[in-house]
Amino acid sequence: MKPIKVGLLGIGTVGAGTFTVLQRNQAEISARAGRAIQIVMVADLNVERARELTHGECEVVSDGNLVVTHPDIDIVIELIGGYGIAKDLVMKAIANGKHVVTANKALLAVHGNEIFKAAQDKGVIVAFEAAVAGGIPIIKALREGLTANRIQWVAGIINGTTNFILSEMRDKGLDFATVLQEAQRLGYAEADPTFDIEGVDAAHKITLMASIAFGIPVQFDKAHIEGITKLQAIDIRYAEQLGYRIKLLGIAKRTPQGIELRVHPTLIPAKRLIANVEGAMNAVLVHGDAVGATLYYGKGAGAEPTASAVIADLVDITRLANADPQHRVPHLAFQADAMNDTPILPMSEITTSYYLRMQVADQPGVLADVTRILADSGISIDAMLQKEPAEEATQTDIIMLTHRTQEKNVVAAIAKIEQLPTVVGSVNKIRLEELS
Ligand code: NDP
Ligand code: HSE
Repeated sequence: MKPIKVGLLGIGTVGAGTFTVLQRNQAEISARAGRAIQIVMVADLNVERARELTHGECEVVSDGNLVVTHPDIDIVIELIGGYGIAKDLVMKAIANGKHVVTANKALLAVHGNEIFKAAQDKGVIVAFEAAVAGGIPIIKALREGLTANRIQWVAGIINGTTNFILSEMRDKGLDFATVLQEAQRLGYAEADPTFDIEGVDAAHKITLMASIAFGIPVQFDKAHIEGITKLQAIDIRYAEQLGYRIKLLGIAKRTPQGIELRVHPTLIPAKRLIANVEGAMNAVLVHGDAVGATLYYGKGAGAEPTASAVIADLVDITRLANADPQHRVPHLAFQADAMNDTPILPMSEITTSYYLRMQVADQPGVLADVTRILADSGISIDAMLQKEPAEEATQTDIIMLTHRTQEKNVVAAIAKIEQLPTVVGSVNKIRLEELS
């Protein structure tokens, strides 16, 4: 059988990894796909470097338009990133009847509905395994492996850069900026690393997983996003003393009122497997009603791990390219006419537990005032830690863990606690998930 012909847009970290792995494992990959998969054209702004990387084995151009309109190309891989030229080229590729493979979660989280609709109308596939958790086949697991289940929640460490930063800061006592630079050097970080550290990249990924898990349209604009830049070392230490680790989690949860879609630093019991995921590794926990909890772990970033997912999509498309579009796996797991409009809940309506840290005057009655406010707000305390004040200090830290309650109750209680004359500054709140 003739090879299936592929055009590659962008030969940076992931593009180069894809080219290398496809070459190295061509024999096995073809044996699985049923025919050879051949990259015949590469577009990259840096034509010289692209020529070096491809060893003269395919045509190299600087203009991606030549790839997406080329009559011989069956599949276009988009590995440029961002929403600009990448979106134009993906839409053009679809309009030209090409299947598309992309690792671009930003593009799909923001413009996914439009892109999937265009692909559906044209009868082509847009595959995006690499867009979530790098080399972990989580899209395949959610969309196909768990298809019997009513998914109840998904929670994941889905940004390698921030997990790497949190791990290195805790283990080696390195400072934030140094570790971020190292993550950039290793190719984990996005072109704009604020997407990583502010939680935006994780929000892109959990948005896509929420759509697949619950059959809802892609709604990145409704995700609540908090990164790790405001996280304080002291909270990491106190959390450890209470038996918890702090991780940046992406959470999508079905509730009777709607869907929670959120990214924020989260306390997790240290004994959970996912709490022990370190470095740039990713892990995703999925809870389905039939299967219970399942955990997926692996490298979430880097050239070859991400290439592994890109090539898995190439193989899937190669196998299905000639199948009737009606009989392919739907882009978002549910048939396009069977999606639902369950609302995404505002943050005030979510329910979880909380870690609260406050600095208070070391005098009688302070604790009673704080606990009275919490009780009046319907919040019960699960655990408490009161630090001995340093010698001659007049203030001390109180740390409380609450039972599950609605976010709006906690926000209202914090506002009252902060007005107490004995409480210094603001109350620091971090959400806590048992993930049991
Ligand atoms: P890189 O920045 O390393 O690579 C992007 C490549 O695209 C560069 O070679 C760049 O050239 C080229 N490029 C930029 N603009 C154009 C254009 N107009 N036409 C053709 N080529 C262009 O990014 P990554 O490989 O790290 O990421 C690619 C995608 O994969 C992104 O969407 C990213 O979010 C995603 N991803 C990345 C992972 C990773 O571990 N790195 C993991 C999972 C997903 P030049 O350098 O000259 O600008
Ligand atoms: N910047 C991303 C991360 C790359 O650090 O996880 C993988 O999507």
